[in-house]
Amino acid sequence: MSKAGALAPEDLPDAAARWTLALHRGEVYETEFRIRRADGSYRWFLVRSVPVRGADGAILRWIGTNTDIESARRQAAELATLNAELEEQVKERTTELMAAEETLRQSQKMEAVGQLTGGLAHDFNNILAGISGSLEVMSTRIAQGRVGEIDRYLNGAMGAAKRAAGLTQRLLAFSRRQTLDPRPVNINALVNGMLDLVVRSVGPEIEVETAGAAGLWTTFVDPGQLENALLNLCINARDAMPDGGKLTIETSNRWMDERAARQRGLQPGQYVSLCVSDSGTGMDPDVIARAFDPFFTTKPIGQGTGLGLSMVYGFAGQSGGAARIYSEIGKGSMVCIYLPRHAGETAAEDEALQAVNDAP
Ligand SMILES: Nc1ncnc2c1ncn2[C@@H]1O[C@H](COP(=O)(O)OP(=O)(O)OP(=O)(O)O)[C@@H](O)[C@H]1O
Ligand SMILES: [Mg+2]
Repeated sequence: MSKAGALAPEDLPDAAARWTLALHRGEVYETEFRIRRADGSYRWFLVRSVPVRGADGAILRWIGTNTDIESARRQAAELATLNAELEEQVKERTTELMAAEETLRQSQKMEAVGQLTGGLAHDFNNILAGISGSLEVMSTRIAQGRVGEIDRYLNGAMGAAKRAAGLTQRLLAFSRRQTLDPRPVNINALVNGMLDLVVRSVGPEIEVETAGAAGLWTTFVDPGQLENALLNLCINARDAMPDGGKLTIETSNRWMDERAARQRGLQPGQYVSLCVSDSGTGMDPDVIARAFDPFFTTKPIGQGTGLGLSMVYGFAGQSGGAARIYSEIGKGSMVCIYLPRHAGETAAEDEALQAVNDAP
């Protein structure tokens, strides 16, 4: 054992207490303390002593070792500091990352809101220009006593006001606040009723085919708005096939389990799907991600308002369903509306229509 005088004074009490205990119990003595070197600096030592006993079991003497553990202790301390620093760095990075994510989310939200506000302002501005222009001309004509021409401008102003109402309607549809008049609807019958209009709207270059599922479940939905949505999808399909192609309107019954429902943002259960597919240009993932956004359009100015799909999306959601896009560039697109199966009785009218539809 080193001389007590060489021991670091602050380590002395602990070392002494342990030594007393070891003596008392006759057990291995083990402790760590600092010992002063000739140059006055201290180094850490691991000190161990083992009692050697005689035949009668009494302790004869102690054999001990002093191991310099200064560098090991320093390394351990350095490691601990390093670990703490690392932990601190990870914490900082995580906080930074979370802040960056929040900023991104915020800027994406602001971009969407900006797009919406800009689109709205632009469209209403055009409409207002139409109304106020007509009113101005009318007031001039009245002042000149040329009231015979007023009708034309009156109609112009009323047409613009109607467009404004239509725009408001689609915006309300997107925000899921339109007044809906849901009724039990057989979608096959609805599609058949629309077929003439669809064929005329898409033109002769596009072949229209329907595939209505037999025994299609009834849904509970606003039929007028569903027709609107279907027409919107068909017009989009037409625009994606400038050189002609094939448009298919398909209905089917869908049992959505937990996973299938979650993928479409729905509750699990029974749904009817109405899908419009085309053999057109298709959409890249970026367009798919934004296609439902109000005022998002890739069409030239004046050709698309970018409200067609947002109306479809809002309407499907407000009806307890969902809308989804499946598309690949160059492989065409399919847009599906999922509507919940109607739990109540099938409307007599629907059954009658179904009978008509099923007739050869
Ligand atoms: N069937 C489709 N094939 C390819 N791209 C499509 C299809 N349907 C929609 N898109 C893309 O999604 C965009 C948004 O569609 P949406 O119907 O909302 O607006 P729009 O057709 O451009 O204008 P609007 O319908 O108001 O006249 C389109 O501009 C187009 O880029
Ligand atoms: Mg459209």
